[in-house]
Amino acid sequence: MSNQEEIQRCPYAAYCGGCTMQGIDYQEQLKRKQEKMNSLFGSLFLPLAIKGAKEPLHYRNKVQFTFGKDEKGRIFLGNYAPDSHILIPVKDCLICDEEAVKIAQSVCTLANRYRISIFNEHTYKGALRHILIRTTSLEETMVVLVSGSPHIYHEEELVRDLLKKHPSIKTVVKNLNSRHTSMILGEKNITLYGKGYITDELLGCRFRISPSSFYQVNKTQTAVLYQTAIDFADLKGEETLLDTYCGTGTIGILMSKKAKKVIGVEINPSAVKDAVRNAKNNHIDNIEFLCDDAGRFMRRMASSKRKIDAVVMDPPRSGSDETFLRSLCQLSPKKVIYISCGPETLRRDLNYLVKRGYKIEKLQPVDMFPYTDHVECVVLMSRVEK
Ligand SMILES: C[S@@+](CC[C@H](N)C(=O)[O-])C[C@H]1O[C@@H](n2cnc3c(N)ncnc32)[C@H](O)[C@@H]1O
Repeated sequence: MSNQEEIQRCPYAAYCGGCTMQGIDYQEQLKRKQEKMNSLFGSLFLPLAIKGAKEPLHYRNKVQFTFGKDEKGRIFLGNYAPDSHILIPVKDCLICDEEAVKIAQSVCTLANRYRISIFNEHTYKGALRHILIRTTSLEETMVVLVSGSPHIYHEEELVRDLLKKHPSIKTVVKNLNSRHTSMILGEKNITLYGKGYITDELLGCRFRISPSSFYQVNKTQTAVLYQTAIDFADLKGEETLLDTYCGTGTIGILMSKKAKKVIGVEINPSAVKDAVRNAKNNHIDNIEFLCDDAGRFMRRMASSKRKIDAVVMDPPRSGSDETFLRSLCQLSPKKVIYISCGPETLRRDLNYLVKRGYKIEKLQPVDMFPYTDHVECVVLMSRVEK
């Protein structure tokens, strides 16, 4: 069956806001994304041809659903319709890992069997709220049961039955979230089974992933994205490199093999913990990680007058901030590699840097999110010599 036929089979296309490019042939999607990037960046720099995905379906290694109850009192899993609070029942997802969706449905079946309470968005009472499942290339699966209450009735039976049915599950975590928020995860994690994390293998390194650490969601395109950044950095072994907004340290660790020294900075303490562990597990000793705001860190680096050869920056969709960008220009590294999942904020930040002594050398769009309108970009910039 072709991608086109399969995507049109999705019964939720009309309601679920997940895939905004439903029913469009994959090559056509790439063409539209390319046109969008050309028109957004064209006046600044013409992007290279987008790197499309070899596997545009079932690529998501991170799957999440919300628990709801129908009029007959049956528990179901669903997604909120776009810009609404209407929970649409969803039993399958054509861009999600297939085993992860099966595991989510098993949890739902068990929740019905054991009559587990569901979190009520109005009263803020009840247990099961969301389910989050992450999978890795090593076939390790993490199940996170997000609960509004510290007690999930029949929790032990649920975990026992789930492990029996799905041997790929290596850890089950209960995450507590009873707050009035659209964020899926709360702050506290309690490990119910296994180590509380799973491990992925990517470009020859192993990475540990905890429930709340950022990790790229596309199983196959992440390697393409990172390899592009590695090629753009073109390190020779003598450079000092900053990996800013580093998450679990993936990019810095992969680049450390060709650098003299790497410093990573990240605001999420659990991601920093993973990063430190990842460096150790990969036997890398020329890298250190700091838990700090990237802007504040860059300001300190700029005033220390330390010589930095290259900076990798991979901020969230909202882009970077003025403190970071101003300090980056002061620090004045020869190369900046900017990885972005927010083309509009990337355009804004590139504009800032171009006006203050940087030149765009390459701009590479990578399709990390087939069937949605999101596009990731990697940009190589160089300092203009005066
Ligand atoms: C797009 S992710 C990139 C992570 C990592 N480079 C990777 O590829 O896995 C952005 C990261 O920036 C972190 N972050 C967000 N705001 C930050 C800030 N002000 N200072 C430092 N890190 C921040 C997030 O926690 C997240 O890990």
